[in-house]
Amino acid sequence: MSERGERATVLVLGGTSEAREAARLLDEAGRPFLSSLAGRVARPRLPVGPVRIGGFGGVEGLRSFLRARGITAILDATHPFAEQITRNGYAAARAEDLPYVRLARPGWSDAPGAETWRWVADHDEAADAAAGLGRRPMLTIGRRHLGHFLGPLADRPALVRVVDEPDHVVPSGWTVLASRGPYTLDGERALMREHGIDVVVTKDSGGSYTWAKLEAAAERDAAVVIVRRTPPPWGAGEVAEYADPAVAVAAITALSG
Ligand SMILES: NC(=O)c1ccc[n+]([C@@H]2O[C@H](COP(=O)([O-])OP(=O)(O)OC[C@H]3O[C@@H](n4cnc5c(N)ncnc54)[C@H](OP(=O)(O)O)[C@@H]3O)[C@@H](O)[C@H]2O)c1
Repeated sequence: MSERGERATVLVLGGTSEAREAARLLDEAGRPFLSSLAGRVARPRLPVGPVRIGGFGGVEGLRSFLRARGITAILDATHPFAEQITRNGYAAARAEDLPYVRLARPGWSDAPGAETWRWVADHDEAADAAAGLGRRPMLTIGRRHLGHFLGPLADRPALVRVVDEPDHVVPSGWTVLASRGPYTLDGERALMREHGIDVVVTKDSGGSYTWAKLEAAAERDAAVVIVRRTPPPWGAGEVAEYADPAVAVAAITALSG
């Protein structure tokens, strides 16, 4: 029970399939919770249960929100590359002395073939590596970071896959494909064949939703350039981190009382 005599309300920081699964499990268990989405995509996949959409206004905005809504625990199930909201969620939880649990899909560093990929630190490095490794790149890095690739790949017939149309004006030789996963191996094979893809650029998002492209790339001997995850804002062992939504939900439920 929370201090106010109510059952604890868990804030699920979302925008991922894992977050939707966590919401489903919390709902099924009859636990009060609230999912939060950034509002980045035009037609988000909504989780079950109550949802609020939009930024909080930094750490201070999030702290005010936590107090105003009687939130007693945070389950951070945001995407591994949504680094700012994870920093903010963790900082706000610490400042408000609330339990914080991280739910994130594991990365692909141990996946088959990972040792053959070009691992890079950021999108600038990814763009340079892609330019050096192939003539026909496929970019699956989201639309926000496309700007880094415009210069280095301007003269290549890049295939860009994004959920929503990019804000950037892309070179005339590029093809923009608006779609979202999960993707099948057959679909990825056909797409790469159609566009003659010889280098795939991705982030270490991990999980199975978008894995098929890496298998398809390996089959056709296309190079892979992959942006590494940055370390989390907490030290080793400071935060309970899980890959399984059921385990993370059990943990946050136990911690939030
Ligand atoms: N980055 C990716 O590759 C990726 C892929 C798939 C899904 N997503 C999802 O898309 C959302 C945005 O990702 P991002 O990389 O743009 O985030 P980000 O760079 O880490 O966050 C930037 C700002 O967006 C707001 N925000 C982000 N996630 C939020 C959430 N779940 N609820 C409320 N506000 C949120 C916060 O604004 P304030 O500071 O104003 O609070 C945050 O400071 C996340 O929910 C993430 O799970 C991201």
